[in-house]
Amino acid sequence: MKIAILGGYGNTGLKLARLLATAGRADLVLLGRDEDRLRAAAEGVGREARRQVTWQVADAASGPSLRAALEGANLLVVASSTTAHAATVARTALEAGVDYLDTNLSIRTKHEALQALRPSVEDRGLCFITDGGFHPGVPGAMIRYAGLRLPSLTTANVGGTFNLPWASLHFSADSQAEFVAELRDMDNSAFVDGAWLRSWKNLRSFDFGPSLGSRSYAPFFLKELAELPDRIPSLRETGFYIAGFGPVVDYLVMPACLLWLRLFPGRPLPAGKLMVGALRHLGASGSWAVLQLEGSDASGRTVSLRMAHEDPYELTAIPVAACVAQYADGPRRPGLWTQAAYVEPARFLRDVAFMGVQVELRLDGEVSPP
Ligand SMILES: NC(=O)c1ccc[n+]([C@@H]2O[C@H](COP(=O)([O-])OP(=O)(O)OC[C@H]3O[C@@H](n4cnc5c(N)ncnc54)[C@H](OP(=O)(O)O)[C@@H]3O)[C@@H](O)[C@H]2O)c1
Repeated sequence: MKIAILGGYGNTGLKLARLLATAGRADLVLLGRDEDRLRAAAEGVGREARRQVTWQVADAASGPSLRAALEGANLLVVASSTTAHAATVARTALEAGVDYLDTNLSIRTKHEALQALRPSVEDRGLCFITDGGFHPGVPGAMIRYAGLRLPSLTTANVGGTFNLPWASLHFSADSQAEFVAELRDMDNSAFVDGAWLRSWKNLRSFDFGPSLGSRSYAPFFLKELAELPDRIPSLRETGFYIAGFGPVVDYLVMPACLLWLRLFPGRPLPAGKLMVGALRHLGASGSWAVLQLEGSDASGRTVSLRMAHEDPYELTAIPVAACVAQYADGPRRPGLWTQAAYVEPARFLRDVAFMGVQVELRLDGEVSPP
């Protein structure tokens, strides 16, 4: 099997390349726009994993350049900040007869582009997986797992918090622009009392333990949540809730970015730079990523599931590698999926734990093996 990783030297793509190369599941080809960075990344990953990793220049904005780079590939993993080119990238994969998995954020324009291709993806028997990564990517799988452990699950909410060493990381300009574009698209819907409710007032408190403490989290709709009430009919309440970045960023910088995007919708980059610059100077120190599910059933049984890693990019790449492992092992499942819907949740949890994610499951307060 040959896997092409677009954005193969980015923060997500490089970690994913290392994981896939070490697992030895496939031949890897790294794709991106910068020849020097591609060569260095392919050599570095190949050396560490003791296998050959190849590279090829490709631009997501150009269908022909990407098409040429997909020669012989079975799967294209999109780990690049190229949501603006989602339609071009996905159509190129479709026309090349190559399966597709993206790690891009859960943005409406991307979903619309993929939905438009759904009939052709199904006709050609291809497998397209979207919303891979940490969030999106994991909360829906956690809720599905909770539904396996408590079959009449009524409530299942997931809180998420992360922090990056902002000052020491390099982000491409497109990533900075995408970061604020996601804020503009943010939908604060959660499933409350058996119905989807869109409201900022829907805050929820999560206790993340002694170091991170307890505070209010805001609802943040992810596409992978939409199908959960049908899949788990007993569910009356579910949602994903996200922590902010501290009062200055949340109440000053973010509103300023949103105002900029409203005034200049076609120019997200200055707002992206402001946001990332503010996080570099005003953000918390330290690096962490935690997802915590709290759930219960009608009889009062409880389930809690915590997944954590000190490096948010590892917690992004590891779930994608676990999804690729299920994809590679088959059976083949054509169609358009989210990562959270595609994976079989019990194996997914075992695999991410094996790859270094801390996974802690509690049933009725007692620690239980996942
Ligand atoms: N689901 C999750 O949990 C999660 C978590 C983190 C990030 N993400 C998403 O994952 C994506 C990557 O994020 P990141 O933080 O890893 O970004 P990053 O470190 O800035 O890397 C982005 C990569 O995309 C490449 N790229 C940008 N435009 C391109 C184009 N037109 N053609 C080819 N390559 C291009 C960049 O290289 P050049 O600019 O040199 O071409 C770079 O290698 C983003 O969409 C981000 O929102 C998702």
